[in-house]
Amino acid sequence: MKQGTFENVGIVGAGTMGTGIAQVASTFRHTVYIYDPYPDQFIKSRNSIEKILSHQISKGRITPDERDGILNRIHFVSHIKDFSTCEIVFEAILEDVKAKKDQLSRIEGIVSKNCILATNTSSLSISSLSSALKKPGRFLGIHFFNPAAVMKLVEIIPSVSTAPETVSRAKKILDSWQKIPVLAKDTPGFIVNRVARPFYGEALRIYEEGIADAATIDWAMKEMGGFKMGPFELMDMIGNDVNYTVTETVFRDFYFDPRFKPSFVQKRMVEAGWLGKKTGRGFYDYRKGAVMPEPNRDRNLGEKIFNRILTMLINEAADAVLMHIATKEEVDLAMKYGVNYPKGLLEWANEIGLEIILAHLEQLQNEYGEYRYRPNPLLKRKVASGEKFF
Ligand SMILES: NC(=O)c1ccc[n+]([C@@H]2O[C@H](COP(=O)([O-])OP(=O)(O)OC[C@H]3O[C@@H](n4cnc5c(N)ncnc54)[C@H](O)[C@@H]3O)[C@@H](O)[C@H]2O)c1
Repeated sequence: MKQGTFENVGIVGAGTMGTGIAQVASTFRHTVYIYDPYPDQFIKSRNSIEKILSHQISKGRITPDERDGILNRIHFVSHIKDFSTCEIVFEAILEDVKAKKDQLSRIEGIVSKNCILATNTSSLSISSLSSALKKPGRFLGIHFFNPAAVMKLVEIIPSVSTAPETVSRAKKILDSWQKIPVLAKDTPGFIVNRVARPFYGEALRIYEEGIADAATIDWAMKEMGGFKMGPFELMDMIGNDVNYTVTETVFRDFYFDPRFKPSFVQKRMVEAGWLGKKTGRGFYDYRKGAVMPEPNRDRNLGEKIFNRILTMLINEAADAVLMHIATKEEVDLAMKYGVNYPKGLLEWANEIGLEIILAHLEQLQNEYGEYRYRPNPLLKRKVASGEKFF
């Protein structure tokens, strides 16, 4: 399965994402060196890969020999000096600029001159991290989605200093790992974490206004839109702390653009420790014996909720294209393969009719008088010229 000319992969951080990337690289027969300053993480990391692989054996997807091969190719190392033979090193440590810069600069002192350095950051600027390096041309963002072994999408994010050759080499590696790489501009949230914000933000707005409760909004998005999970179930699963922080970061980094404004309801939940599934309480009650609330299955209300959230998602997707964050094709791929949306948002807009989406946005802006609902210029231009996205 292995293609190309490189052998060894280094990973810093044996947490959720580092472990997932290690599994992917080893599955494609690379020798993997994974470093973490906390040795307990090694046991957790190995156990989690073993568990996933045992499940795959039980499903007949891999053989016990293949499992052993994948596990044996992953070496948990207590020093980054083992990265000296690596042709690519992924940084997947905690989301902290200083810690990441420190590690990246240490790694640069160890690896060969041709080694690609990549960060898996979800929210930090790639250009800012690149300033820690003497040779930033070999550095870029390679953003996997969780679980990395399952999710096909990977965002490739060059910084202002990344050499074009680094981008093409990274793409080749990800292609050989059977991933779907998309190129994104180094802007807050890249593609997925930016375009997906209204899925949560508009749902929270509808909830805060008392138009519907969480169960009804979740039902509407699944029933009318075919989404696998509703926004509140998803926020509880991701963790309200994690989800809120991403929203707050994107809001701040977009110079407080009101369309990304965080929600007080979610903030209070975080403050109270209602983080979702992991703490037993979030928008839903997960404690033993708790009964899940029934949605209001009024189809008119459901359509209203679904149309409003979808319209806002499409508006954001259009903005990502307008601002050259990615191409229209890549924006659609990103949402289908990064967050499992049932359709690409721009393809969906075409199906519904761009003039209907525009009319809905104008009606929301008219009603609320808020800049949050302003229709994207690209959408307006397309409607004016009678064009579609595809
Ligand atoms: N979890 C997700 O859904 C997800 C998705 C995409 C990207 N990311 C990004 O991936 C990165 C890692 O996230 P995660 O969820 O795997 O975190 P995690 O907390 O599961 O793992 C982080 C690992 O880094 C190690 N670590 C902490 N400080 C370190 C240091 N100074 N040097 C080396 N290792 C250190 C920890 O011991 C831990 O094993 C973050 O940048 C995050 O934003 C996370």
